[in-house]
Amino acid sequence: MVNLSVKLNNLIFKNPVMSASGTFGYGIEYNGFFDIGLLGGVIVKGLSLNPRQGNPPPRIIETPCGMLNSIGLQNIGYKKFISDILPQFDNIDTNLIVNIYGGEIGEFVELASKLNDYKQIAALEVNVSCPNVKAGGATFGKDPEVVFVLVSSIKKVCEKPIIVKLTPNVTDIALIAQAAQSAKADAVSLINTITGMVIDTKTKKPFLGNKFGGLSGPAIYPVGLRMVYETYEKINIPIIGVGGINSPDIAIQYFLAGASLIQIGTANFVEPDIALKIIKGIRRYLENEKIDDVGKLVGLAHN
Ligand SMILES: Cc1cc2nc3c(=O)[nH]c(=O)nc-3n(C[C@H](O)[C@H](O)[C@H](O)COP(=O)(O)O)c2cc1C
Repeated sequence: MVNLSVKLNNLIFKNPVMSASGTFGYGIEYNGFFDIGLLGGVIVKGLSLNPRQGNPPPRIIETPCGMLNSIGLQNIGYKKFISDILPQFDNIDTNLIVNIYGGEIGEFVELASKLNDYKQIAALEVNVSCPNVKAGGATFGKDPEVVFVLVSSIKKVCEKPIIVKLTPNVTDIALIAQAAQSAKADAVSLINTITGMVIDTKTKKPFLGNKFGGLSGPAIYPVGLRMVYETYEKINIPIIGVGGINSPDIAIQYFLAGASLIQIGTANFVEPDIALKIIKGIRRYLENEKIDDVGKLVGLAHN
């Protein structure tokens, strides 16, 4: 019998597979289709203090090598999440992780402090890939000092484990991960989407309403894997791997690169219960390799 469970501080994950934010709704929508309690964790759509409409359409396009989206963090806002979604998690046996973002540091901190009161929430994932209104739209996650201040401020008001979700749109992602670790982040997750664009050759204009979007799916897995590998050499808090995972083999590559847990994103749109197949595949791999604990895979590619 192999052990698939993973510990992150005081949190126990029954297996290392979670849904990635923005690709699994609020989780509840999928629960009629399969028991989401079988997942190690469910990371819900990015939540802000107030509801948001998101970016103008069109907001999604498939490319020959992945999906491009510019949803713009559309969500129902904190109050509706607490009243309508949260109680539905009372009887679901998984770790509910809330992905949060704000337009400025104070907004992140206020939201984190409000969410700290709810016992159903196991941890927060802080999305630093969004624009900082105060800095004129620069991305939070591109500046190690801003990441340090942001994470330290959140840690002061929230006792739950804090996972910092990093953007790949930087020169050195490990540097940003180090800033998160210095600020006492409990884990980092990487990667978010890679900025890209598509131009419509009929209108001769950018296809997306927002011009640019985030590329996700199988095309980005070698990039995500490289970034997890690089980051593993520079930090000693757990890494959560995400980016193009759609098979047990790719999931296992992320563990070997240094991830302790993984998230499934765009693959959920193709096969909504893909996470269950990946959990089974990881178990089968460990049995075949005669490895009794998934934790023993972590970072093996570095020796
Ligand atoms: C439609 C869509 C919406 C997303 N929304 C969020 C979000 O709200 N917060 C966040 O941190 N990441 C968000 N992401 C990024 C994913 O969680 C994930 O990091 C990224 O898609 C890479 O993984 P994948 O290739 O497996 O999809 C979104 C991705 C997609 C495709």
